[in-house]
Amino acid sequence: MNGITPDRIDDFYFSNTAERQTLELILSRKMPFPFAGKSGILIHGTWGTGKSTLAELLPELIETSHSGTWNFANGVGQMTGPNPNHTQTQLFRCGGGLSSTSFTQTITNLNMLNPLYSMSGHDYFVFDEVDRLTLGAQQSLRSTMGLKRSMFFFTTNYLPKIDPAIVNRCHLIEMNQAPNATAYFPMAHSLLAQMGLAASAIAPSMLQTYAKNAKGSMRDFLNDVLLEGLALGGQMPTTKTVV
Ligand SMILES: Nc1ncnc2c1ncn2[C@@H]1O[C@H](COP(=O)(O)OP(=O)(O)O)[C@@H](O)[C@H]1O
Ligand SMILES: [Mg+2]
Repeated sequence: MNGITPDRIDDFYFSNTAERQTLELILSRKMPFPFAGKSGILIHGTWGTGKSTLAELLPELIETSHSGTWNFANGVGQMTGPNPNHTQTQLFRCGGGLSSTSFTQTITNLNMLNPLYSMSGHDYFVFDEVDRLTLGAQQSLRSTMGLKRSMFFFTTNYLPKIDPAIVNRCHLIEMNQAPNATAYFPMAHSLLAQMGLAASAIAPSMLQTYAKNAKGSMRDFLNDVLLEGLALGGQMPTTKTVV
C-alpha cells in the first residue's frame, strides 16, 4: 500500500482464492495470457470494492512482470507498477456516448503498429462498467477480443448484463464483501496511520460495524474511518483517494 492507495495485489480483497491465484499465475508469467481464446480479465462485484482501481492497475503490474525488474521471491502480491510509470493503457469509460466504431478503430489500429511502448508486446484496453455498452457494442467488442496483441480488462457491477461470449473470453474475478470484517482492518489502520493516529484509535468492534455497514464498499468503509479519525483529532490525509 502506497499511503492508502492500493497499488499491489495484496491490497485488495478477493472473494475467491482460486481467482486470485489465476491473477498471480498470469502476473508471475507461469500461465500464458492471452491463451486459448481468453484475452480478458473481467472483474465483477458490488459497488466500491476496488474493481476499477484494480482494472487500471493490472496493465501496470503486467508491465513490471515483463520488465524483469521484480524479484518474484518477494511475492507476486507485493509487486507494484513500473517506476517511472510508462504503461500505455487505453481507458474507455462505458456508457454516455462511447461508440463501438471509435473503440473498434482504436483497438484495430493499435494492433497494426509495432508495440514500441509495451514490455509485454501487448496493447492494454480497460473498459470500465462494460455492462453500460449496448448489446450491439458488446458484440463489436467481442470480435476484437481475438486480436493477438490485445489484452482486455473489464469491470462491471452487473455480470448478467455482459454478453456471454465476452464472459467466455475472460478470466473472472469476483470482488464482493468479505465474510470476515477483519479483512478490512489493514486498510483502516493504514488510513489512521496516514492521519497521524494509532491503529488502536478506533476499537475493532467499531471497525467491524463500519465494515458490516459498508457491505464491501471501500468508499463507505474508508469514509467512516476518516470521519471518526477526524473527530478523534486526526489530520486530513493528503492523498487523492479519499476525496
Ligand atoms: N483495497 C483498497 N484499499 C484502499 N482503498 C481502496 C481499495 N479498493 C478501493 N479503494 C478505494 O475505494 C474507492 C472505490 O474504488 P473503485 O475502484 O472505484 O471501486 P469500484 O470500481 O469497485 O466501484 C476508490 O477511492 C479507491 O481508491
Ligand atoms: Mg468502478
